[in-house]
Amino acid sequence: MRTQVGIIGAGPAGLLLAQLLAVRGIDSVVLENRSRDYVQARIRAGILEQGTVDVLTGAGVGERLHREGLRHDGIYLQYPGHRQHLDFPGLCGRSVWAYGQTEVVKDLIGARLAAGQQIEFEISGTALHDLETDRPRVTYADSAGVQQVLECDVVAGCDGFHGPSRPMLPAALQQTWVRDYPFAWLGILADVAPSTDELIYAWHPDGFALHSMRSPSVSRLYLQVDPDERLESWSDDRIWSELQHRMAFEGWQLQTGPITDRSITPMRSFVSAPMRHGRLFLAGDAAHIVPPTGAKGLNLAVADVTVLCEALTELLAHGRAGLADTYSGTALRRVWRATHFSWWMTSMLHASGDDFEAQLQLSQLRYVTSSPSAAQSLAENYTGLPLR
Ligand code: FAD
Ligand code: DHB
Repeated sequence: MRTQVGIIGAGPAGLLLAQLLAVRGIDSVVLENRSRDYVQARIRAGILEQGTVDVLTGAGVGERLHREGLRHDGIYLQYPGHRQHLDFPGLCGRSVWAYGQTEVVKDLIGARLAAGQQIEFEISGTALHDLETDRPRVTYADSAGVQQVLECDVVAGCDGFHGPSRPMLPAALQQTWVRDYPFAWLGILADVAPSTDELIYAWHPDGFALHSMRSPSVSRLYLQVDPDERLESWSDDRIWSELQHRMAFEGWQLQTGPITDRSITPMRSFVSAPMRHGRLFLAGDAAHIVPPTGAKGLNLAVADVTVLCEALTELLAHGRAGLADTYSGTALRRVWRATHFSWWMTSMLHASGDDFEAQLQLSQLRYVTSSPSAAQSLAENYTGLPLR
């Protein structure tokens, strides 16, 4: 098989890159080792920046997003006795949208298959070759177990944190930065109407809690837990009473309902550079991970492939390498901004058990909820700085 861009991974990065390239008449094949059902059901992020919504709309996959997505004009920041709304349009002229990553992935897969373009699900043994030549190859076994070779002009490594693309960078050329946090998030999805109009980020001495949502009838909530915490230790009753305890506010009651999904996610910051080697380009979680507190992971993946699509279009349609050469530097500038913001939100909101740190956090929360310039800084980072 031959294509212009071999894309490894059918997560948001790989699927959106394929869609953006198709709009520009560039051919690609998407290779994914999981099944279609599995990738469409994987519960992860849920907040889209304004710029992400614009990119999805421009790529022709914004129709259901505009119909079903919930526009949010702010968030609540809370600490005991205080719940303060930050008004994003007033502070920075932008909003965010609550629309699940599952739905973004379904929309992108639906659009690609409807246009008769290729996604190979349930492949195995993905391996990359000849990346330093202008005829790189990907080998794999297809879903029937038949060995295949995909010849390409370039390979896009969109295969997430554990995929095979990043390890192809020669160790001598690669630099990585890692920060592991001493906490994790226990996340639930529940069939109950959200108890709030906009997200609540709650600081509490017993640990952070977050109230988010997926639709007018589905709530998404998170609790800070220890990284070695086990799901079996958390009965439904314990989860709901801990959420109510950490988000308690006078006159407000958390509504409960059947829990339909639950998981524990560790928290880590990770950046790998460069994001390009020869004819291999990395995008999304394949190159970087942020802790979820700033809602940036999915949005960064979208920003990466937006920049990458332009670079590949220049390279493959016009034979100009300039944007491909600057891709890594351009993408990494945004990655580090989001890495700082996610680290900062995480540090401000999670209980570490250290009383001095707790006082600093409360001081910072009072500052962000009372100073318009501090609030504006949070708002412009949360809603996403312009792509360029
Ligand atoms: P991924 O979505 O990881 O997609 C990579 C794809 O590559 C996958 O489909 C994978 O199956 C495939 N793949 C891997 N190896 C191979 C191979 N060998 N061959 C072929 N295909 C392969 N972000 C937030 O903002 N908020 C959240 O609440 C949040 N929760 C998260 C919870 C979890 C458990 C995880 C893991 C991430 C979460 N994130 C969250 C981060 C966000 O979901 C990611 O940043 C986003 O999915 C990145 O998209 P991606 O396409 O780069 O990577
Ligand atoms: C969600 C996840 C986040 O990490 C966040 O900061 C806000 C919302 C969510 O899954 O809805």
